[in-house]
Amino acid sequence: MNETISTLLYLVSASLFILGLKRLSSPVTARSGNLMGAAGMLLAVVLTLLDRGIVDYTAIIAGLLVGGAVGALLARRVAMTGMPQLVAAFNGFGGVASGMVAVAELSTGTHPPLETAAAAALSTVVGIATFTGSLIAFGKLQGLLPGRPMLFKGQRVFDSVLASGIVAVAVLTIMADRPGALWVLVVLAAVVGVTRTLPIGGADMPVIVAFLNSMSGLAAASTGFVIGSGALIISGALVGASGLVLTTIMSRAMNRSLLNVLFGAFGGNGDEGARSTAAAPVRRATVEDVAITLAYARSVIVVPGYGLAVAQAQYSTRDLADRLAERGVDVRYAIHPVAGRMPGHMNVLLAEADVPYEQLLDLDEINEDFPRTDVALVVGANDVVNPSARDDPSSPIYGMPILDVDQAVTTIVIKRSLSPGFAGIDNPLFYRDATLMLFADAKAALDELSKAVPEA
Ligand code: TAP
Repeated sequence: MNETISTLLYLVSASLFILGLKRLSSPVTARSGNLMGAAGMLLAVVLTLLDRGIVDYTAIIAGLLVGGAVGALLARRVAMTGMPQLVAAFNGFGGVASGMVAVAELSTGTHPPLETAAAAALSTVVGIATFTGSLIAFGKLQGLLPGRPMLFKGQRVFDSVLASGIVAVAVLTIMADRPGALWVLVVLAAVVGVTRTLPIGGADMPVIVAFLNSMSGLAAASTGFVIGSGALIISGALVGASGLVLTTIMSRAMNRSLLNVLFGAFGGNGDEGARSTAAAPVRRATVEDVAITLAYARSVIVVPGYGLAVAQAQYSTRDLADRLAERGVDVRYAIHPVAGRMPGHMNVLLAEADVPYEQLLDLDEINEDFPRTDVALVVGANDVVNPSARDDPSSPIYGMPILDVDQAVTTIVIKRSLSPGFAGIDNPLFYRDATLMLFADAKAALDELSKAVPEA
């Protein structure tokens, strides 16, 4: 194919990635953004096949069919709560693909120019470490490995020695034609992926998954330099940059630094179970109490959290909101940036239940409205509504922005017990006079509430 035409078409493919990403920033345009990105990818694959002319089409068609079938099957069958581990697996395979191309380039027998060898060594280390790190993340999120941070004695020293070893062997691989060094580099990279992911608490995994996503982009971009592909450099850089932005947003919304997430061994296993924490009295409410309070409210703000995802209560939430709206109650939803366990978790769940986008408001947009709201209905949320983050400088989550549900006239909390959430700390919200606790599974409670709210 004519080189100018192929360069132009690669640019079209890269532009589709950029436009697709832009459209992903709003739920209204996200579906078409996703399609644009996929079209850009298809164009890049077809172009590479035509452009290089060195490929065996039988293997490629077989690969497309098998890969496409597995992808379609996974996309249809994986539950929303399993999405973080699916993304972890995808990142890992992206990383290993880039790493393998780089390893192939370095093991051809003819030593590549210095800059190509350097890019290939970087891609090998980052790609392979992303692969093994993602496998560990997958294992933790899927419950195959313990979720708690797993450290061993002398880990800091081990990490330092390993890092120095990787740099030394990478230099050897780049400078001299030493196939032996390349395989040592692959093994060391695989080890670092494992030993740097095991010490991270299972519930911090979504942040790490975003970080590994960024790393897989970096590996792809440096592989782009190795094989001289502009489209791969651009798309890899986009993945790397967007993954890093997402990682930063998530760390900030938890008021933690990325270094603290990576090295802080924080956050338990993210499934703290039904431990009751405090003996302090709470105001227990029945379904009937809550139904009456909601039915006669003028305004209700629903605050969804991780428990809503666990209970798969999105449809029940929508049903209750519809019921209240029929009675003339103004119902809106307050979305905290790190509610749940993955970015956009609540938006995706509520969109699945066709909750209108305009009713979903971000923390900054809605926080000032709580004092003017009759009822804040907290469904399976805990840390994101914990007033200690605002009022108690000794709290581990002090400084994390929260939704000010305690400022509504009445706060109703639906959860199964007084157990803590992800951060593993008690929540003074539950013991306030103006808070009603409805102890139940979120879905069961919401279904009963819909029945108990009197018709308009
Ligand atoms: P959490 O603080 O984790 O609290 C969730 C609550 O849901 C638990 O206290 C639990 O209490 C309740 N729950 C569990 N299953 C339930 C069910 N079937 N029905 C009703 N309630 C149920 O959740 P959050 O407020 O959404 O906060 C998210 C936390 O995760 C934050 O600390 C955040 O920093 C962290 N985090 C978030 C992300 C992202 S990107 N979203 C990533 C990493 C970490 P019971 O057991 O008593 O029912």
